[in-house]
Amino acid sequence: MIVRPVAVAFALIILNNAAHAQDVAAGEKSFAKCRACHQIGETAKNSVGPVLNGVIGRKAGSVEGYNYSDANKSSGITWDEATFAEYIKDPRAKVPGTKMAFFGVKNDQEIKDLTAFLKQFGKDGKKAN
Ligand code: HEC
Repeated sequence: MIVRPVAVAFALIILNNAAHAQDVAAGEKSFAKCRACHQIGETAKNSVGPVLNGVIGRKAGSVEGYNYSDANKSSGITWDEATFAEYIKDPRAKVPGTKMAFFGVKNDQEIKDLTAFLKQFGKDGKKAN
């Protein structure tokens, strides 16, 4: 009977890891909605929208060589999980006048998954894990 708590602890660790992996995989699927306009990864380039490497933790409007709207540039936002979640739910409500023509992602779990996917990529586009 001493074994039990240990087994439970292992089960929890495994569950935790599975949940994390799922988030990233689900987030990668969801990122298909963004790919028309955004690139991410080591070879990413600005296209319709700016490169999204290292976006969580980045100041809005700070990718060099990308021609942002004034609305985005002067928003004063630093993208963290909370501001990104609000923005991606309804971009034009969070940043009125943004030129990101995207209706948003309404599902909270999907936003979490997307965030987990985005957070993998450092500023240089390399995956941290
Ligand atoms: C139809 C094209 C389009 C789609 C689809 C799109 N975006 Fe954008 N996105 C843009 C444009 C254009 C901008 C620049 C906005 C501005 O300057 O006002 C932008 C800006 C952003 C920014 C702010 C970046 C910064 O450096 O300040 C984030 C974050 C972002 N998009 C995330 C996403 C995510 C995540 C998705 C998918 C769920 C997505 N976008 C889908 C076009 C798009």
